[in-house]
Amino acid sequence: MCGIVGYVGQRAAQSVLVDGLRTLEYRGYDSAGLAIVDGDQMQVAKAQGKLSRLTALLDETPLPGNVGIGHTRWATHGVPSDANAHPHSDPTGDFVVVHNGIIENYLALKEHFVELGHDFGSDTDTEVLAYVIAEEYDGDLKNAVRKAMARATGAYALVAMTAKEPGRIVAARMISPLIVGLGSDETFLASDIPAVLPYTNNILVVEDGEIVDVTADGANIETLDGTPVERDPFVVDWDPGRAEKNGYDHFMLKEIYEQPDVIEQTIGGRISSDGSVELDGVDWGEDFAVNLEKIWITACGTAYHAGLVGRELFERILRVPVEIAYAHELRYRDPLITGTTLTLAISQSGETADTLAAARLAQENGSRLLALTNVVGSTLSRDADDVLYTRAGPEIAVASTKAYVAMLVGQALLAIKLGAERGMLNDSEVVEMKAELQELPAKAAAVLESTAEVAEIAKTICDVDDLYFIGRGLDFAVAMEGSLKLKEISYLHSEAMPAGELKHGTLALVTEGTPVIVVLTQQHIYDKTISGLQEVKARGARVIALAYEDDLEVAKYADRVIRIPRTADMFAPVLAAVPLQLLAYHVALELGHDIDQPRNLAKSVTVE
Ligand code: AGP
Repeated sequence: MCGIVGYVGQRAAQSVLVDGLRTLEYRGYDSAGLAIVDGDQMQVAKAQGKLSRLTALLDETPLPGNVGIGHTRWATHGVPSDANAHPHSDPTGDFVVVHNGIIENYLALKEHFVELGHDFGSDTDTEVLAYVIAEEYDGDLKNAVRKAMARATGAYALVAMTAKEPGRIVAARMISPLIVGLGSDETFLASDIPAVLPYTNNILVVEDGEIVDVTADGANIETLDGTPVERDPFVVDWDPGRAEKNGYDHFMLKEIYEQPDVIEQTIGGRISSDGSVELDGVDWGEDFAVNLEKIWITACGTAYHAGLVGRELFERILRVPVEIAYAHELRYRDPLITGTTLTLAISQSGETADTLAAARLAQENGSRLLALTNVVGSTLSRDADDVLYTRAGPEIAVASTKAYVAMLVGQALLAIKLGAERGMLNDSEVVEMKAELQELPAKAAAVLESTAEVAEIAKTICDVDDLYFIGRGLDFAVAMEGSLKLKEISYLHSEAMPAGELKHGTLALVTEGTPVIVVLTQQHIYDKTISGLQEVKARGARVIALAYEDDLEVAKYADRVIRIPRTADMFAPVLAAVPLQLLAYHVALELGHDIDQPRNLAKSVTVE
């Protein structure tokens, strides 16, 4: 999705903006641009394609000045092109805007200017906002933006600048995320925190329906109706280095290798030696777990797959019904959310539009809302009654890896906490689970040390048309994520399904040589999964099994076996996910794909 950066200060704006846009590349984009005010001159440079095309233009004609805004665009209205790239200007060129999100009534707004005889240079829903702001301008950019917001409908973050008031940027937020980074004699704006981290970790969040007036001295926030907002900044303890590749060829690989640390940090200090679970940010009172009647889980994509694991953990440990729903489905259902319920909304970014909407719906229906997210201060974290932060650090690759694993660990902690509070786990059981959890970082590290088999297997599946992932229970949940990872970055067609489902139709597609990846960690259904394995083997499938290192049985049936250390079955997904991430990585590498920014995908899906 689109990315925004803004800068007012003493530095050369061009380099701050380009570096900021580079940090936001992971969001996925198809064009980039920036506008810088120098004296009373507005200068704009923009180009379709990767940031290198924009920087080539800037190398030829650098833009001087210390105030500017930049943007990476992910096309929604109008094809990727130079003309549709942001920033967009009014007819005089004095006003520029960049924008994330969608202006729903842009055609109606455009009509007014077309009637006045204007021709638009782009097909975007953004350009007209520059016109509206210029039309509303009475000497004060903030008033003009406020009036423009009153005329526009939709979900967006808008940033405006004018050559008539150099040294000032005004931005507004209506749903799409926007943060301010406060430095000394300099101020930054961005859609995502990592873009400002090299300069400051002092962050101020702009909320929905607010306008922020940014100068080098800081930022003033007001609501749309002009009420001043007093809000303290918070400090983000992310290390900017964690948003760098640190010698790895790709962010995805780096993030896969960070997982032992991420598991450790997500557990860190949350279970004490006497077995009590202290989750900072989660405070639902003593009787909540006892009275709990149902858990809803909602999320999209990889976060949804993490929720599939959570569903089983909560059901097994708490003995409460758990329903999981894709957020984009749940938000348009009329769900029966009644009684004492907990809705767990899972989102790495905390900004996924569908997840936010589904979470709000659950809250409106009287559910307590718990956010499981990686981004401190994200919209989801602010909407929720309780928040459990995964501590994965910034995840840059579009294909989520470490955030997924952190979500699994976060849900394990929640299940243990709720289980203890509900009286389903005694202290010694909690201590035992804690011990198992604490062994996971070392075991994940061991998986990462023996990757040769995975890289070899990757070479053998690069050229297939279809492949299948199967498993039962938690193994099925992992299979879903393994299949998604492969699709996202290798572009191979793959499908995941419960092992028992194959014979109800899809088995017809399994022929001589079809690769079938079988996840086999759950002992109580081991024999059942082996039956599924034999079914595909009998049709000539090439079976690649993922099993514990001490499982001697599996080698009798599988062509290749990927091994992971043994752990409690309920935590096996944390380890089983890792080789499947690596498998997807190595296939994509063999095929020469853009691993960190796969085609058509964006890191954070902030529009519906
Ligand atoms: C993960 O690899 C995907 N790119 C995607 O499915 C992602 O998990 C989904 O869009 C949800 O994002 P969120 O966790 O930020 O809400």
